Amino acid sequence: MRELVFATSNSNKIFEVQEKFISENFCVKILPVPQPFNPEENGTNFLENSYIKAYEAAKITGKDAFADDTGLCVEVLNGRPGIYSARYAKKGEDKIQKLLYEMKKYKTLDERKAYFACAITLVNPLGKTLFSYQSKFNGFIDFEPKGTYGFGYDPIFYVKEFDKTLAELNINEKNKISHRSLALNAFINWLLANY
Ligand code: IMP
Repeated sequence: MRELVFATSNSNKIFEVQEKFISENFCVKILPVPQPFNPEENGTNFLENSYIKAYEAAKITGKDAFADDTGLCVEVLNGRPGIYSARYAKKGEDKIQKLLYEMKKYKTLDERKAYFACAITLVNPLGKTLFSYQSKFNGFIDFEPKGTYGFGYDPIFYVKEFDKTLAELNINEKNKISHRSLALNAFINWLLANY
């Protein structure tokens, strides 16, 4: 069976990725990276940061590793928090409250356009990029948090097609449409053809 190291310390990401592989009937053993795993994400964009994490994990394990770097980009905030989404505030709940506060003066949905960007990069232990892809998933910043599924900014990311936030969608629903699932679709297709 194929084996890939997933360069993350985020159990929510591991769960989503594993569920996606299962739902696509794609057989791969996901190996964890030794913890603590916290490489400095000092890239200037999502693709660079996903490369940094993947290469670090590939060096540590001596195996091919992939990483996911995700961020929430808000149109009226000129793309913020963007690559700083993880550092926007310390705790998850504080990030949500801070963003809702920044968005307070924007009263219409049209002014609250946002998207999740998700970069996935697969790197070998020599640092060679084998696969790299960035997806974009459009939505809006909701007026209040809703839902208990998912993680991170999901409770305030409103998806018009479902009239729900991402946190009101269960794992199967989120995994059919999300930024991560779009990037994983491309990743799985590449793995099937090349790996
Ligand atoms: P990173 O990709 O681990 O650097 O995550 C950046 C920030 O985005 C963190 O605050 C995460 O909690 C958040 N985040 C990552 N993926 C998702 C997602 O699928 N939904 C909502 N928030 C996310």
